[in-house]
Amino acid sequence: MSLFDLQEKTLPNKYKEMTNDELQDKAVQLKLELGDQLFIPGHHYQKEEVIQFADATGDSLQLAIVSAQNQEAKYVVFCGVHFMAETADILTGNDQTVVLPDMRAGCSMADMANLKQTEKAWEELTAIYGDTIVPMTYVNSTADIKAFVGRHGGATLTSSNARKMLEWAYEQKKRVLFLPDQHLGRNTGYDLGIPLHEMTVWDPIKNELIADENNTVEDTKMILWRGHCSVHENFRTEHIAELRENEPDRKIIVHPECTWEVVQKSDDSGSTKKIIETIENAPSGSKWAIGTEMNLVNRLIKNHPDKDIVSLNKEMCPCLTMNRIDLPHFVWALDCIANGEVNNTISVNEEIAKDAKVAIERMFQFV
Ligand code: 13P
Ligand code: SF4
Repeated sequence: MSLFDLQEKTLPNKYKEMTNDELQDKAVQLKLELGDQLFIPGHHYQKEEVIQFADATGDSLQLAIVSAQNQEAKYVVFCGVHFMAETADILTGNDQTVVLPDMRAGCSMADMANLKQTEKAWEELTAIYGDTIVPMTYVNSTADIKAFVGRHGGATLTSSNARKMLEWAYEQKKRVLFLPDQHLGRNTGYDLGIPLHEMTVWDPIKNELIADENNTVEDTKMILWRGHCSVHENFRTEHIAELRENEPDRKIIVHPECTWEVVQKSDDSGSTKKIIETIENAPSGSKWAIGTEMNLVNRLIKNHPDKDIVSLNKEMCPCLTMNRIDLPHFVWALDCIANGEVNNTISVNEEIAKDAKVAIERMFQFV
């Protein structure tokens, strides 16, 4: 059992037994009672029942920025997933407490890279490529990985600033190790003009480097960690082929956590912020298929009745871990704070936080 499991406390029955109206009223009352002591950032993938109470909504980059800016609230109740709450803890003051309403709200992608695997990979990769690599990590990674990157001259990045951050990385060294999402890495590298054969893939389970037959050690510009988002991998090229055949006037926009093939065949790609802005600015009557998490797609459908919006994959489900933050857990978190028994706190070890902050602050130079 990990430390993460040991710290987890389960939702008391009383919150499970409350009706939706009772939970809503309680959330309103507790928010009012806690006032400025409380700050609630909410990611765009959160459920409607929770996001309605957020003080700030945003993509990963925006939420990291607002968390760093708010040094006043004593309690930050983070409506998102574990790595986002860790980032908030790293960026907030020592007198501030970050709470994740349900500790099971992890991210399968962030779990695909741990420190031991990364140190092993670094040893093997530096033996092949020498001192030519800068490690860069998507913010969808644990604080440990961000700290590793900070210690080795690299930085964090998000899907909003990945291109700018890779340009910065190539000013530091000839090669980039991109953790943990191979797809965001491949999509961004390709966008920067790096051909696919100049990218290799590091498999952290087999400890091996996977390379195209045209690849040479000298040519290699990017080493992609073999990780992915289990939600975005459900958008496939056959969904695009079907749409193009049946509805050629429907535009397709996807998140860059989708595979390279899907991004190439779509009309556009970008972070959740970019997807929202594209739909907001689209003409009335326009038709869209969106390749991202379902809570956000449903919100866009609801907020833009003048536009015809569908999910790129009709069978798509929400992100299960994002969905763990529901109204009962949210009310429980607020109630515990009001009763002085704060629960499910996120507290990154000081040494790790110090190095992770270096990586995050390098990213903040480019927002
Ligand atoms: P962004 O909101 O930064 O685009 O990230 C999407 C995501 O998968 C967060 O887990
Ligand atoms: Fe993680 Fe994917 Fe869910 Fe984002 S959508 S939290 S990357 S599993």
